[in-house]
Amino acid sequence: MSEKAAFYQSLTAQARALCEGEPNRIAKLANLSALLNLALEDINWVGFYLCEQDNLVVGPFQGNPACVRIPMGQGVCGTAAASGQVQRVANVHEFSGHIACDSASNSEIVLPLRDGDNIWGVLDIDSPRYDRFDEEDEAGLSQWVAAVQPLL
Ligand code: SME
Repeated sequence: MSEKAAFYQSLTAQARALCEGEPNRIAKLANLSALLNLALEDINWVGFYLCEQDNLVVGPFQGNPACVRIPMGQGVCGTAAASGQVQRVANVHEFSGHIACDSASNSEIVLPLRDGDNIWGVLDIDSPRYDRFDEEDEAGLSQWVAAVQPLL
């Protein structure tokens, strides 16, 4: 197993431990955003946006104050939520419709959160480093989300 795969495996175990036995979703998302912020290098914003009718509304996060509402289908987050596809963006300035919440952000990854077929939110991670998230990060974070979302 690569160093990065082992890192994400350990991050999954830590996330499971944080969620165990707690029914309150917001409380768990708050601790998960803190965990990811501590563990991931070179990031300036990490957190959750939650679906509410035709918008994504900001949820627990770590970083600078962010846009409160993102219309479904807009920006990187809205595209991930509307399409159900992970959005891995090497240079956010080249992503049409990118919503700049923090001018320090240069790359971003957004992963949809599901309950069966229903998408109820996204995990958004921003970095000041261009191309911060590679294929292994996408695979590791996808596995992290797959393991954690049934506990939320
Ligand atoms: N850049 C995001 C908006 C959210 S902030 O980065 C926290 C987007 O385009 O969806």
